Amino acid sequence: MSMSLVKVEKLTMKFGDTTALNDVTFAIEKGEILGLLGPNGAGKSTTIDLIVGLRRPTSGSVLVYGLDPMKNGLKVRRAIGYVPQQAAIFDTLTVRENLSLAAELYGIPRIKHRVAAIINEFELEEKADKLAETLSGGQKHRLNFALGSVADSQLVILDEPTVGLDPRRRAEAWGFIRRLRESGKAVLLTTHYMEEADELCSRILLIDRGKIVAQGSPQELKATLSEELVAEYHFAQPPACELVDGITALPDVVGANLDQLSLKVTLKSCALPQVQQLVQESKLLIRSSSERGITLDDVFRHYTGRELREEGHEK
Ligand SMILES: Nc1ncnc2c1ncn2[C@@H]1O[C@H](COP(=O)(O)OP(=O)(O)O)[C@@H](O)[C@H]1O
Ligand SMILES: [Mg+2]
Repeated sequence: MSMSLVKVEKLTMKFGDTTALNDVTFAIEKGEILGLLGPNGAGKSTTIDLIVGLRRPTSGSVLVYGLDPMKNGLKVRRAIGYVPQQAAIFDTLTVRENLSLAAELYGIPRIKHRVAAIINEFELEEKADKLAETLSGGQKHRLNFALGSVADSQLVILDEPTVGLDPRRRAEAWGFIRRLRESGKAVLLTTHYMEEADELCSRILLIDRGKIVAQGSPQELKATLSEELVAEYHFAQPPACELVDGITALPDVVGANLDQLSLKVTLKSCALPQVQQLVQESKLLIRSSSERGITLDDVFRHYTGRELREEGHEK
């Protein structure tokens, strides 16, 4: 097999008392869209910082194209198209100047030509010679992607590329990622949106509190909980503990999670009639109920006992 683009081994990163990464090992292979899926604070950005050589790990090793980013920072950063969560755009330069500067830092040949092509690809012609500070939110977002694409690197790293985007701009970002996939690039994508990882990634690492808790393709991950499904009930009044306890005690119920008026039960499908019976016997008024297949959120909960979005507020 050919060399992995990135090899991370037994990587640990401590900030004082906080262990941001704890013995993390993985590789990024050519052409794959690898997702690092986990809640805020899981260690996703720290992983990226170590890959691009912005920090020195407490222990463990990182190799990018066989190079140590701490020793070959420039070479490594030139080999990676990096799209940070906070766009690194100079407001007082024009769009073209921002892109030219990046192209120069990457050391790519025929800068003018390449920058013109990128401006065209990201539909920034209209604003090409305007100051970046005059861009709309969507245009800034496109420029951020364009900056990560200017070097045409084999590996593109995207740190939470769609946080806080409206649906239209999220669809645009997904389109951009699909384009990378189609052109054979490898992508490392961090996200805490399970739909995004499910939709775009060929392989996913589930990360929680600095540890990789599971990995596989979206299908493989969901298949580990294969015979399971989720039944949800929204009650008009809070259900009694006995109901939740009774459901949890059923042999083929994996777990029951009560959040105020909503009850989420993960169960083997054979247990569904018994659960439905207990709910019916409780005589609670049900506002709505649903049964559905397993999602990556369920997989995450299965491995960690917590919700992907538990940490709530977005950074
Ligand atoms: N520079 C830093 N100093 C101290 N703690 C940090 C620093 N950067 C990250 N952390 C901590 O490391 C953990 C992982 O953070 P981060 O990698 O940013 O998570 P994510 O990107 O998954 O949201 C968090 O607990 C965070 O508070
Ligand atoms: Mg982050």
